[in-house]
Amino acid sequence: MVRQVNAFAGTATLLASAVLVSACGEAGSEDIGRASEALQKHGLSETFSTLGPIDPQGEFFQAQGTNGRSCATCHLPSEAWSITPRSIRSLFARTRGLHPIFNPLDADNPDTLDASTLRGRREGYSMMLSRGVFRRGGAPRAGAEWELVAVDDPHGFANLNRLVQWRRALPTINFPLGSATVNWDGGNSVGADQRAGLVNQATRNVTGGQQGAPAPAAVIEEIVDFESSLFTTRVFVPGVGRLDECGAEGSPELLALQEKRAGRWDLFDAWLDLAPGSCSHRGADKKRAQIARGQELFNAPKAPGGSCAGCHDSANNGTNVQNLTFDIGTASAQARTPDLPLYTFRNRATGETRQLSDAGRGQVTGLWSDLGAFKTPTLRALAARAPYFHNGIAETLDEVIDHYEVNLGFVFTAPERRDLLAFLEAL
Ligand code: HEC
Ligand code: HEC
Repeated sequence: MVRQVNAFAGTATLLASAVLVSACGEAGSEDIGRASEALQKHGLSETFSTLGPIDPQGEFFQAQGTNGRSCATCHLPSEAWSITPRSIRSLFARTRGLHPIFNPLDADNPDTLDASTLRGRREGYSMMLSRGVFRRGGAPRAGAEWELVAVDDPHGFANLNRLVQWRRALPTINFPLGSATVNWDGGNSVGADQRAGLVNQATRNVTGGQQGAPAPAAVIEEIVDFESSLFTTRVFVPGVGRLDECGAEGSPELLALQEKRAGRWDLFDAWLDLAPGSCSHRGADKKRAQIARGQELFNAPKAPGGSCAGCHDSANNGTNVQNLTFDIGTASAQARTPDLPLYTFRNRATGETRQLSDAGRGQVTGLWSDLGAFKTPTLRALAARAPYFHNGIAETLDEVIDHYEVNLGFVFTAPERRDLLAFLEAL
């Protein structure tokens, strides 16, 4: 099996590339020294491709359109195939905001963007730079059960005829165990056919996000084959070591061998009640047992509505096997931060109104009940790709848990919260 060492969670891309080189046996000892220091401090996520070594010349990494962007511009191997605000800021600093990722397509407001000065670019791309979100949206869906009756957009671009919806780049990983819902709102889904949805997504990205002519079918097929071959998980946690030792199953190779099934997560079963000193030293074994306790909290009914694993039910992956989307309050008026828009939707039949910062699945289906609902995403390699949720409102995994306590009635004691966090950080 081919191992691709791709990601140092929370460290610079430069370091990750040093590790890529060291994997080929060409790095100097200094690079390797820095790499192992970072490993001990930040941990590591890795990608395994079922197609073998990753070819950086592949179509996923090539600009397909006219604006210099490729799929890998926004889906970085070193960030679990998403992109963090930290990397976007570093690209801005290195290129004075002239890197192709900075395109009016994702500006706060393309009408008022002053791309001719450094300051204009910094101010005009504030949403990408501050929280790593990209601008999506369009005309409110025609013929919907709802109508848009009021708009408050701090950037002044959205209006009654134009929704602006800010979205984090979803990681392009673990699809064989994933759902057929493609995109946060399922906007590119083709029924229950995941591959057709991914083909649709890639086709539209080349003509939209990359501003190209439609790509040849062979290019789209290569891109979809490639992304469907990627498995990414955390493999190393500081103070613990590798996550596939002593019977645990925390590695992308092991994930690739799993069948897609709904149910209990069991990655760390071998570490349940691990006696200190029975795997390695006592301190590490205590942390292993903690991760396993966190897994059990994730599996257990800790809210009136059920468990974390009840929605994130693709075992050891986290999407929903029935392709379900849910409204968990991430687009609610209470959760809104001042930089996000706020929309008022009215139900055409009942006159009832709802305020949301993003229409979610409701914009795709037109259904009142789908407003504010989003795809249930994979939860692997979370540590490599903060912030969280479609709009990046949770900066840390701790804030994710806060959100569930406030919005879904989950209750965790302080020690339980530490256990659950240890588990989420080990995914
Ligand atoms: C400018 C940044 C950018 C570029 C370039 C880009 N993406 Fe994305 N990608 C995103 C964002 C943002 C989302 C989430 C959008 C949404 O769901 O509303 C996303 C979502 C996706 C998804 C959905 C994943 C899921 O779990 O549903 C896939 C698949 C994907 N991208 C693949 C690609 C491919 C293939 C390319 C190249 C053809 C590409 N992306 C180019 C930013 C980008
Ligand atoms: C009712 C279904 C449901 C339950 C219960 C649920 N989730 Fe989620 N989860 C979702 C959905 C839907 C999203 C995406 C929401 C969004 O981004 O707007 C999500 C997103 C997340 C994310 C962010 C992932 C990312 O890529 O940004 C994390 C982490 C997460 N959930 C962990 C948990 C944990 C831990 C629990 C239990 C405390 C839990 N979830 C319970 C449906 C659920």
